[in-house]
This record gives sequence, C-alpha cells and structure tokens, in this order.
Amino acid sequence: MRIRMSGVHKFYESEGGTQKVLQNLNLEVEKGDFIAIMGPSGCGKSTLLFMIGCLDLPSFGTVLLEDTDVAQQDESMREKIRLRHIGFIFQNFYLLPNLNVLENVLLPMQLLGLPKKKSEGRALSLLRLVGLDKKAHEPTNSLSGGQQQRVAIARALANMPGLILADEPTGNLDNKSGKEVMEVIRSINENQGLTTIVVTHDPKIASYARHIYYLSDGKLRSTVL
Ligand SMILES: Nc1ncnc2c1ncn2[C@@H]1O[C@H](COP(=O)(O)OP(=O)(O)O)[C@@H](O)[C@H]1O
Ligand SMILES: [Mg+2]
Repeated sequence: MRIRMSGVHKFYESEGGTQKVLQNLNLEVEKGDFIAIMGPSGCGKSTLLFMIGCLDLPSFGTVLLEDTDVAQQDESMREKIRLRHIGFIFQNFYLLPNLNVLENVLLPMQLLGLPKKKSEGRALSLLRLVGLDKKAHEPTNSLSGGQQQRVAIARALANMPGLILADEPTGNLDNKSGKEVMEVIRSINENQGLTTIVVTHDPKIASYARHIYYLSDGKLRSTVL
C-alpha cells in the first residue's frame, strides 16, 4: 500500500490550552517500503501511526492510503479499511486471553465472515511462518512475551493486509525476543512486499527499517543512525 500524508495537523484541547502534536506534517511511503519512526516519549509517534491506521482523525490534512483520503471517510468505512487492509501490532500484544493461539489468529477472518476450514488452514500456515504452529492449541497466556507478539504478527497478517503498523512492538520484550520479533517483521516485509511502519524510540529496532524518520516539533525529518 502507498501512503501520502500532506499538511497533517493534530491538536488536542486541554485545560492548559491547545496542544499541537502534529504540525503540517508530510510523509510519503512507497508500496512495499519499510520505515521506522523514532522520537522521544510523548512526541506524537502513536498519534501519527493512529492517523495512518484509521484509528484517529487529523484536525486538518490529507491521509491517502492508495487513492482514498481516509481522513474524509466515516467511522464505518474506516473500520472496513482497518479490517481488510491494515494489520496492527501493539506493544501489549492485545491477544484475547480466553481464546487459544489459533482462535486469536482466526478472529480477523471470522469478522470478515470467511469460511471456517479455509481460515483454519490460513491461520495454521501463518503460525508456521512465525514459528508457532506447534502452539496452535495452547492457551495464549502459556506463551512467553516474544511468542505472544509473534502470534499477534500472525493475526495482523490474517486478512492479507497491504500495510503493517507496529507501535513499539518490542517495548515489552527482552533483547533476544525483541530481535526475533523484528526479524520476523523484516522477513515478512521482504517476502510479501507489505508496506511496513514501525514506531520505536530504540535505534537498534529502527535499524531494521530501510528508511528512518525522526519526529520532533510535530514534523518528520529523515535521519541516518
Ligand atoms: N486522546 C488524547 N487526548 C489528549 N492528549 C493526547 C491524546 N492522545 C495523545 N495525547 C497527547 O499527545 C502527545 C503525543 O502522544 P503520543 O502520540 O502517544 O506520543 P508517543 O507515542 O510519541 O509517546 C502527548 O503529549 C499526549 O499526552
Ligand atoms: Mg506511543
């Protein structure tokens, strides 16, 4: 998926006045590219990712996913775009604890109403891709943090998205599991041509990406580590 953000502003109103988190921000990401967005805590990285992911709306500006300005779509259309075209990976995994590993990966396909047998085959092959097919029937909470994040990656891929968005995907992991998770994300980007955006404050994690941007004063600048 190709992304074009232009003139994006995001303001939050608070008691102390208006907080300008994103200010006239522009970003272009080509289909299949892998970028990292860095910056200190509170600089607006998640806010930016949520605009691209149709989880939040800009105050002004355009956010084109292919030819659709998602900032102009209503909530039900943005929900459809999220479910069909975008895979999310969060710091806290957000797996459902009352579902087993396989059922967690099946969930996005069930929400689309896809046939059960076919979905199970796909879920198992995605679990194989992240090295966890043998854990398919285990309860989610029996897995380590790194394993849970790899299940979340399989789930993010379930509906064959064109875009993967990862918000501090290694933030709750030790170094070794963090590396494994980033290697899985990189290999998926390389092998499946999925546009990939990782938000992180960690230069080691950002170095997996092909282009690195730094967010400060509400704007992005290209950076070299
Ligand atoms: N829903 C919200 N309402 C008010 N302020 C918010 C909201 N979401 C984020 N912010 C503020 O916007 C700024 C950027 O937040 P965030 O995007 O989460 O930063 P980061 O992900 O870089 O740590 C922070 O100062 C935060 O307090
Ligand atoms: Mg954040």
